[in-house]
Amino acid sequence: MSGPLVLGIETSCDETGVAVIEGLSTRSSVLGSQVDLHARFGGVVPEVAARAHIEAIRPLTHQAITEAGIHPDDIDAVAVTQGPGLIGPLMVGYSFAKSFAYALGKPLYGVDHMEGHLNAPRLSFDGYEPPAIVILASGGHSQIVHVKAWGDYEVLGGTIDDAAGEAFDKLARFMGLGFPGGPAIDRDSEGGDPSAIQFPRALRNRPYDFSFSGLKTSVVTYLEKARDAGELPARSDVSASIQEAIVDVLVDKTFNAVEATGVEVVGGGGGVLSNRRLRERLGEEADKRGVGLFIPEPALCTDNGAMIASVAVRRILDGVPGDEIIGDVDPGLRLGV
Ligand code: KG4
Ligand code: ZN
Repeated sequence: MSGPLVLGIETSCDETGVAVIEGLSTRSSVLGSQVDLHARFGGVVPEVAARAHIEAIRPLTHQAITEAGIHPDDIDAVAVTQGPGLIGPLMVGYSFAKSFAYALGKPLYGVDHMEGHLNAPRLSFDGYEPPAIVILASGGHSQIVHVKAWGDYEVLGGTIDDAAGEAFDKLARFMGLGFPGGPAIDRDSEGGDPSAIQFPRALRNRPYDFSFSGLKTSVVTYLEKARDAGELPARSDVSASIQEAIVDVLVDKTFNAVEATGVEVVGGGGGVLSNRRLRERLGEEADKRGVGLFIPEPALCTDNGAMIASVAVRRILDGVPGDEIIGDVDPGLRLGV
């Protein structure tokens, strides 16, 4: 056996993720996406999400265990997202995981969702080791984290208003592109000119912080004026220009941190890291500076159970005991605090 066998459960937002990993090798990882349920509302509705997790968690856990080819008794520990996230959805996964671990007589590890994202590249790459600078960008969070050692995180900066994914989602909704907005803008920008419209890049004077609310206002104002003047630009140009404005800022701030700390390992996580232009630009900058870039495949960038299990694997190998009672969910959990 190549390490502890851990069942990981993630329900902090709108994806029910369940995975079985052995050491850092993924034996199964299944996802119940709620995108279609929330699409008609244009965003995640917490109550709807919690109910969908309740329906999905048992069959998905069964599926993950079956696909892993194991018996529940083989599991060494259960890991579950404790926070941050939406309280209702978190409570569903947490209560289920607690009961499941109790019934099996196995330890339970409560995991910070963001620490899960920080760890996810380890499931894909060798050589992703601290010290590292990691960019985390999703629908709920945008942060630049200095991973000094596993378990020792300094959040260097983050968004002061909307998260990057939220900006994509809101702008896509305004443009009538549907939900979630990030993938829609990513697709729509194909063939578009990223320099067609110069949307603002905010907070140039703050090296690690982001702000996306000004971009939103600027896009809305620009499109309303263009519509009134009867001079609407090609939609792909608008999408490409919006995407470039968001990507520019994320890339700049990430490499500001790389320069300031001198670290040579860059990682990434969160749904926005699935963005093709962002991945391309991060790759170009990393090559230019000769630093290693560790952005896993999109399925490991978005929320999933394997990343949660991977944090527990590390703790088990470090000899940290799981607790039978580890407190409650914490929707406001913050890395490095
Ligand atoms: O990490 P995630 O699956 O869930 C959380 O928010 O925790 O991230 C979802 C976010 C959404 O805002 C979505 O629009 C964005 O990630 N996203 C993308 C892309 N794929 C997902 N943003 C830009 N480009 C993409 N290809
Ligand atoms: Zn996430």
